[in-house]
Amino acid sequence: MAGKPLVTAEDVLRTPPGRAVFLPEGAILTPLARDLLRKRGQPLPAGATVGPRPVASLVVANWKSNKKTAEALAFAEAFARAAPRSRARAVICPPFTALALVKAALGDAADLGAQDVSPFEEGAHTGEVAASQLADLGCLYAIVGHSERRAEQGEDDSLVRRKVSAALAAKIRPILCVGETREERDAGRTSHVVRSQIRAALEGLEGAAEIVLAYEPRWAIGRGVVPRDDEIVAACLDAREELSRSLGERGTRTPVLYGGSVAVENARSILSLEGVSGLLVGGASLNVESFLRLVAAAG
Ligand code: PGA
Repeated sequence: MAGKPLVTAEDVLRTPPGRAVFLPEGAILTPLARDLLRKRGQPLPAGATVGPRPVASLVVANWKSNKKTAEALAFAEAFARAAPRSRARAVICPPFTALALVKAALGDAADLGAQDVSPFEEGAHTGEVAASQLADLGCLYAIVGHSERRAEQGEDDSLVRRKVSAALAAKIRPILCVGETREERDAGRTSHVVRSQIRAALEGLEGAAEIVLAYEPRWAIGRGVVPRDDEIVAACLDAREELSRSLGERGTRTPVLYGGSVAVENARSILSLEGVSGLLVGGASLNVESFLRLVAAAG
């Protein structure tokens, strides 16, 4: 499909009602763009086809509290040397202590993310790192609401929402993590938990919010177990539906990542599931060889 002009729902919505949407020759329409055109009564030109929704694939490394500066630097240099040609974009989230040097060593090979962000602006907030300070270091992303922080630091939905909002104000894309506990899963509450965490985190933000969502079942993180394929698909589709409800059109294009015991062995099959547009990786992102393989698998 490379090189063919893609027409998205946004293109259709940007065209004022009553005017024909510009459809270049050989256009590929996203499914939603096709549906919207139908609603407007505009016929598809000959040669137009309908392709998959255009979501860039992301593979995000979450190093957690691992790596001192020398190890972080060695990883970033090795990654920059060997970064695979991939349609997927790698995002590396080192600890705060290594952000600046990882950024310098990575160059263009991957984007930089933080593992958390303060809900406060710069000022008298001891120990906090403000979103504007992360942006200043070149961070394009910040993980928000990771289940380890929800469990260990008592982060609740309202704090997560403030962090999402603080990140967006500094033009940082929050990688919003949601997911159920084992008990909630066994009680059949996954859909409810995923939807309500998304709704709470995005309340009031509407269409302006450029976010990434990560579905991370808590019981799968760091345990070497992953949900069944149908469980991942169901949760990711629930997430997409809730994103569209909260963010409108933009929500249909929000990348939805899966995270929780992703490994070189299971990455391809998880990435092939409907609704999954990337990975959030903890343990398997600490080793540069395995992270390179995960990025290659996604592309
Ligand atoms: P894991 O961690 O890949 O080690 O399970 C994922 C995460 O916590 O984001």
